[in-house]
Amino acid sequence: MLFKQQVWLRQKLLVLGSLAVGSLLYLVARVGSLDRLQPICPVENRFGGSHSQAEFPLRALQFKRGLLHEFRKGNSSKEQVRLHDLVQQLPKAIIIGVRKGGTRALLEMLNLHPAVVKASQEIHFFDNDENYAKGIEWYRKKMPFSYPQQITIEKSPAYFITEEVPERIYKMNSSIKLLIIVREPTTRAISDYTQVLEGKERKNKTYYKFEKLAIDPNTCEVNTKYKAVRTSIYTKHLERWLKYFPIEQFHVVDGDRLITEPLPELQLVEKFLNLPPRISQYNLYFNATRGFYCLRFNIIFNKCLAGSKGRIHPEVDPSVVTKLRKFFHPFNQKFYQITGRTLNWP
Ligand code: A3P
Repeated sequence: MLFKQQVWLRQKLLVLGSLAVGSLLYLVARVGSLDRLQPICPVENRFGGSHSQAEFPLRALQFKRGLLHEFRKGNSSKEQVRLHDLVQQLPKAIIIGVRKGGTRALLEMLNLHPAVVKASQEIHFFDNDENYAKGIEWYRKKMPFSYPQQITIEKSPAYFITEEVPERIYKMNSSIKLLIIVREPTTRAISDYTQVLEGKERKNKTYYKFEKLAIDPNTCEVNTKYKAVRTSIYTKHLERWLKYFPIEQFHVVDGDRLITEPLPELQLVEKFLNLPPRISQYNLYFNATRGFYCLRFNIIFNKCLAGSKGRIHPEVDPSVVTKLRKFFHPFNQKFYQITGRTLNWP
């Protein structure tokens, strides 16, 4: 009798133990898939697509990211692509600029959203005549694989300043959403200069000082022929775009704030793109060594941007900085007026 009771007790304990272990494994798997116990929220079908919302909850998209990563690495066959219903979609939104505004950080941070897939490389389709001549199918083939309910985003900062680009993008999709990330114009110009300077130094070449390039030595006025200066006159470029797209199709991202306080900026972009809010503080952590926010995809995978992002700028003569700030001031005012976004630039 006692023996029978012991066997019965042991069986019960075994069942309970298996249940406990099973639940634990289930929980670990859930956390591992970065679900973070959020309520199911389907991707709103505002971007079109052939499947019902219920079929593609965000949670599933998040889980399938690993799979997409494999496809991106080229570990896929045509059969697998077909089986998983993957497509290469033209972008529904483009980060058109501005160079050194924080375009890479913005793209990478938006890619944290389960409904967003980034084109990793700058494609330079619309600003490069040779690429453009290859046609829209060439461009589409450059896009990453994604699920139809996801949106693809690409960034090529040269688009913002290249004359032909607005018309070309309009011809592809007149209702596309356009993101412009800007920084205080003088800081952006110095950042632009720093990138070129680093390139020269890498090739053991000497280069002019920023002051010499930014100020015309004959007139002592700001040198508007210098590209780094011209690029920072945001309103001039935007006016060309407005010949094709209404202002509602643009969203201005404050690149200076994206550095210090990325989440609210990203939340504004989620709203603009009609995406359910999914990027959270969990996804962004400040890395003191880097001096920047880095990205956390899940408990295992996180990354900071490459060292080429966040260079130390050279010291610039304060009188030149003042002169440039004064020069940009009226253009900035116009930019605020057109875009409806006032930034606290001097
Ligand atoms: P600096 O190198 O002048 O600091 P882009 O990607 O358009 O070239 O922009 C580069 C800028 O992105 C960098 O300019 C850096 O300040 C900014 N940036 C914004 N968020 C960043 C982040 N989380 N990590 C690194 N750089 C970031």
